[in-house]
Order: sequence, then structure tokens, then C-alpha cells
Amino acid sequence: MGLTLKYSYGETPLEEEELEGLKIASVSTKRELDEWEQKNIEEAIAWLYGRRLKAARILSPDFICDLHKRMFGGVWKWAGRFRTTKKNLGVPAYEIPLALKILLDDTRYWLENGTYPPDEIAIRFKHRIVSIHCFPNGNGRHSRLTADILAEKLFGLPVFTWGASLPAADEARKRYIDAVRQADRGQWESLLGFARL
Ligand SMILES: Nc1ncnc2c1ncn2[C@@H]1O[C@H](COP(=O)(O)OP(=O)(O)OP(=O)(O)O)[C@@H](O)[C@H]1O
Ligand SMILES: [Mg+2]
Repeated sequence: MGLTLKYSYGETPLEEEELEGLKIASVSTKRELDEWEQKNIEEAIAWLYGRRLKAARILSPDFICDLHKRMFGGVWKWAGRFRTTKKNLGVPAYEIPLALKILLDDTRYWLENGTYPPDEIAIRFKHRIVSIHCFPNGNGRHSRLTADILAEKLFGLPVFTWGASLPAADEARKRYIDAVRQADRGQWESLLGFARL
């Protein structure tokens, strides 16, 4: 297909077979793609608005996949379905269901036992799920929205201040990816700070 995408710092490139899942024939640049995706994400956020969601629902594989589908299903055929290709980040594709289940179980345990403060539970969840990399693309935006959902629906806190999508190639993105890499090493302060300005 004729779409050539330019990736910014810390983005996951798409495989040819994944690019074939594009539903909108008129897209020819990364910028147009970003705009379509953003519009789709806003529909998912509108769906979430005012909706009461409990931990048992949010922390289920069905909800995690359904949310991805609501965010990207208008643009990509594979939205809401686990990745089958290898990426430079994330577990091997065949380990995704189990890795996600372990994360969901761990998060339920953190909630029940107050293992970490509310923001830290949401940020640890966000970082673990993006590290699994469940989907071919959109994992970062999906992980940030799930953290927002945990903050708002479970803890009654304001959503985080990173917004649904980070602008590409700017200073904020570099700080974000650097904070994510510190979190890889178990240092949470930068990502917690980045998430709430
Ligand atoms: N070293 C890393 N450790 C953990 N997560 C990482 C690392 N590098 C990048 N990431 C995560 O991968 C995400 C990018 O994955 P992907 O391209 O699937 O998401 P996206 O929603 O398309 O992009 P973005 O997050 O840039 O909006 C980043 O948001 C970041 O959270
Ligand atoms: Mg991406």
C-alpha cells in the first residue's frame, strides 16, 4: 500500500500486514492518520463520559480489548485484537494473554490491599500494560487512557494531564519517553510527575 509513515521518538512501527488493516482509503500521510485516530479516540472518550465502571469490569481482558476497539476501530481492522507480530518492545505475541491476566490480577491485589497510593497504582498499571504491548499500535494512547480511567472511575481523581495524545517530536514527548525508561528501571517519580503537572 502507498502509505509511508514517519515515526517519532519511542513509537512502534507497523508491519506491512498491519498497515493493510487501514480502513480509510483516503489517508496518505502520518498527519492525516493521526487526525483520524484522534477523532476516533475522542469518540471513545465520549463513550466513557459519565459512565460508571467498577474495578471488576475495567480490570478484565474484555474491557481492555473493547476500549482499544472503541479508540481505533474506526481506523484499523485489527483494533481490539491482540498483536500477532513481533515488536522491538513487548512480550512475545503468544505470551500476551497470560501477561495481561497477571497484570490484571496484580492490579486487583494492589487495589484490595492499598499496596501503592492511587496515582501510583494507575501509573504502574499504565507502564506494565504498555510494556506488554498488547496491540499492533496505539498501545501508548491506550495505556494513558486506561490510567485516566483508573484515576477517574476507581479513585474519583481528575484525569492525568498528559492528554489523550502526545504531540510528536517535541520536548514533552522526550520527557515522557525518558520518564517511561526510568520506570523500566523501577524509578517512578519522573513518570508520576509527568502525568500530573
Ligand atoms: N522503553 C520503553 N519501556 C516501556 N514502554 C515504552 C518504551 N519505549 C516506548 N514505550 C511506550 O510505547 C508507546 C508507543 O507505543 P505505540 O506506538 O503502540 O503507541 P501509540 O499510542 O501509537 O503511540 P504514542 O504513545 O506515541 O501516542 C509509548 O507511548 C511508550 O509508552
Ligand atoms: Mg504508535
